[in-house]
Amino acid sequence: MPDTLTLTDNRTGLTYEVPIEDGAVRANALRQVKVEEADFGLMSYDPAFLNTASVRSAITFIDGDVGILRYRGYPIEQLAVDSTYLETAFLLLFGELPTKDELARFEHEVTYHTFVHENVKTLMTGFRYDAHPMGMFVSVVAALGTLYPEASKVDDPDVRLAQVIRLIAKVPTIAAWSYRHNKGLPYVYPDNDLGFAENFLSMMFKMAESKYSPDPALVRALEVLFILHADHEQNCSANAMRAIGSSKVDPYSALAGAAAALYGPLHGGANEAVLRMLAQIGDVKHVPEFVERVKSGEGRLMGFGHRVYKNYDPRAKIIKETADSVFEVTGRNPLLDIALELEKIALEDEYFVSRKLYPNVDFYSGLIYQALGLPTAMFPVLFAIPRTAGWLAQWLEGIVDPEQKIARPRQIYIGAAERNYVPVDQRTAGARDLVAAH
Ligand SMILES: CC(C)(COP(=O)(O)OP(=O)(O)OC[C@H]1O[C@@H](n2cnc3c(N)ncnc32)[C@H](O)[C@@H]1OP(=O)(O)O)[C@@H](O)C(=O)NCCC(=O)NCCS
Repeated sequence: MPDTLTLTDNRTGLTYEVPIEDGAVRANALRQVKVEEADFGLMSYDPAFLNTASVRSAITFIDGDVGILRYRGYPIEQLAVDSTYLETAFLLLFGELPTKDELARFEHEVTYHTFVHENVKTLMTGFRYDAHPMGMFVSVVAALGTLYPEASKVDDPDVRLAQVIRLIAKVPTIAAWSYRHNKGLPYVYPDNDLGFAENFLSMMFKMAESKYSPDPALVRALEVLFILHADHEQNCSANAMRAIGSSKVDPYSALAGAAAALYGPLHGGANEAVLRMLAQIGDVKHVPEFVERVKSGEGRLMGFGHRVYKNYDPRAKIIKETADSVFEVTGRNPLLDIALELEKIALEDEYFVSRKLYPNVDFYSGLIYQALGLPTAMFPVLFAIPRTAGWLAQWLEGIVDPEQKIARPRQIYIGAAERNYVPVDQRTAGARDLVAAH
């Protein structure tokens, strides 16, 4: 049987044979389907890209029905146990795990680019005292591009690589300083003796001590969270990174756009909503009543369900184990018992089972961040630090893909047909009245 799809246009009775490649047909193949020669041709309409692949990518594989997540073929479960964030970042960016020498060099390069220009500090001190750290992050990443004008040469592989190193290295510094600013605390410079996650914790929490040394179990937990959040194929922010990058703007501007997408509550803010929900439930004994309210359509069980995963999110499993190691050091987060009870009830309940609603990555991550002493406003920033590696891997892949052009979707125009301009004194209803009437 040929790998083709036969289409019949019932308007004309004509049939067309369209090739099927990798389980997909090219939307452009529909353009030949016309009633008249002058027609534009058939388009596909897919709001929110529910069933449209926009790229061919070799970075991350997800099978949501069975709960599989792999970076460059490596199962997330193995990376979470055996790898480090920087090694995982290398893998995402360059396609293979590094050799010992490559890893040492990459770690060295990232470590020695963690400092930012002093102008960045001046810029950050200009934000209002209570500026949201994610708003600061988005702005400062964009501003960073002004310090590296050569970054606009995106077709030069050496220039690209230099910006990749800079961005991965500097985002923790910007993130930590946005927190210090919020707290009214002096900014802490990077410590090149420390590893990636450890240095971030030092820039966040170091006070008068000459050396900040966090508990190794907490450093590892943060490292695991960084690995789990490093990439997730074509999600909203990755798509923003690729779309903005397709205009060949510098990667700082594209990454600021991706981070802005992550700022939205539907993307990077769900773990904060989980914490609010758990606090609102308040006690394990209120869980059954809360579940009943969700089932009757009163709100959602935050941290449950996923557009892609129709099975247990593999990251949620790992995070649950990581939470145990964190609570051994910090003491048990009292909200954990409520979360465990919620999960137990929901996993047995017909409503959740039939809709394939399982805990997602956000169900437990907020609890860990809270136990680490990280405020909720920092949650999307903590997501943005590791996701920088994923955004850059997606950007690098897109920029050299010969099939990619500037991203520019089509539309189905549903507005007014051509009409004549009406002078202002002859208009009856104003546009604002019309909007208000809707
Ligand atoms: C993640 C999410 C947006 C995915 O949404 P989606 O793929 O568009 O799924 P839908 O909104 O179509 O939901 C399908 C059904 O499950 C129900 N449902 C989905 N998530 C639910 C939840 N968390 N709690 C209760 N019911 C839920 C919907 O009401 C719908 O039921 P219906 O068929 O009776 O109308 C959604 O599951 C959600 O809002 N989850 C809570 C927020 C969250 O944790 N987000 C983080 C994602 S990483």
